[in-house]
Amino acid sequence: MADRAVLAYSGGLDTSVAVKWIKEKYGLDVVTLTINIGQEKDWDAVCVKAKKTGAIKALVVDAREIFVESLVFPSLQAGALYEGTYPLATALGRPLMAKLLVDAARENGAMAVAHGCTGKGNDQVRFDVAIGLLDPTLKIIAPVREWKMTRDEEVQYAKDHGIEIGEVKENLYSIDENLWGRSIECGALEDPWVEPPADVFKLTNSVVDSPDEASCVDIGFEKGVPISLDGKEMGGVSLIEKVSALAGKHGIGRIDHVENRLVGIKSREIYEAPAAIVLHMAHRELESLTLSKEQARLKSTISQQYADMIYNGLWFSGLHMDMRAFVLSSQRHVTGNVKVKMHRGSCAVVGRKSPYSLYQKQLATYEKGDEFDSSAARGFIYVHGLGSRTQGENQLMLGRQDGGDILLEGPKGGEKK
Ligand code: ARG
Repeated sequence: MADRAVLAYSGGLDTSVAVKWIKEKYGLDVVTLTINIGQEKDWDAVCVKAKKTGAIKALVVDAREIFVESLVFPSLQAGALYEGTYPLATALGRPLMAKLLVDAARENGAMAVAHGCTGKGNDQVRFDVAIGLLDPTLKIIAPVREWKMTRDEEVQYAKDHGIEIGEVKENLYSIDENLWGRSIECGALEDPWVEPPADVFKLTNSVVDSPDEASCVDIGFEKGVPISLDGKEMGGVSLIEKVSALAGKHGIGRIDHVENRLVGIKSREIYEAPAAIVLHMAHRELESLTLSKEQARLKSTISQQYADMIYNGLWFSGLHMDMRAFVLSSQRHVTGNVKVKMHRGSCAVVGRKSPYSLYQKQLATYEKGDEFDSSAARGFIYVHGLGSRTQGENQLMLGRQDGGDILLEGPKGGEKK
């Protein structure tokens, strides 16, 4: 019996060619593993195709629930948006796929695992780092990184080896999708000046095609995890699907991002992440009600580092364990409801409440029932402004009569009217 490799298989051109190529180049039998994390696919057809292409076994795993519970929601609790923008759908899928590849390799007696990543992207790093940590004895094969075939050569290879490829379109985009969003790059998008053509979008309406009527949804959270819509409790997978469909209909969720890849390249990627946009916004808003100012300040620093950690392929790491502990603790009181209104391409929080709210009307109100002791303000301001007065007297205003002009210069500095 030949040794085996487990290949992460999508059924597309790259991974189909890889089935044959691995056998030819390494003499390994190929077991394909197709992982359902919410992308649209005909799962039976993928299995049939894998077998036809030469796989000795074709596995499909439905990993949607674990994807949401163990990766997506923790990243939501963390407020993880890469460069403040990208909700990390692709980056969150990779460590889970790596784990499932390693599990399948063990269960099927394979000595190698394989993935279809190129040699220029972040995904190869995420796969290789995670696999190397989970099982360093496994050989990692990355055919697309190794074979250096152009797209045309791949098509030729497929023809020569009787691999069915369907029609191969000109200027194909490279698309990755899962429950948390779609990532689209290549083709016309490689010019950052070019507006994304309408055909890159699938989950979101354009604003012109979005409905005249606004929609409002009440999202319930428990400890930073969304658990209900309009009072109806539901599992994470359906909740994300529902929010995604509603927000997408209203034209919410398109992101155009020139991002800094881990491998040093700047790349332009279009994302569609309707559910992620809405849920991050709602979650942040509930935190603004339930975290103290100081907790919120530290949390936003951690959010940024959390996003970098996920983006950079360090999901399985001690760093992550430490940050996760902080985030979990920070979510103790992030329970309550947020009302989000969606209309014509934008969403806005229009209401929020929590049993642990730190917003106290009797302190904030300008009307009857005010409990804030305004007479204490004078003393507070005296102390708060003390350093400022000291600096003014001894440095800033020293010997100057025109003190009021300080720091009121024009935007280029030094300009005087
Ligand atoms: N730039 C994103 C990331 O590194 C997505 C990568 C995959 N994109 C794609 N269109 N295939 O996470």
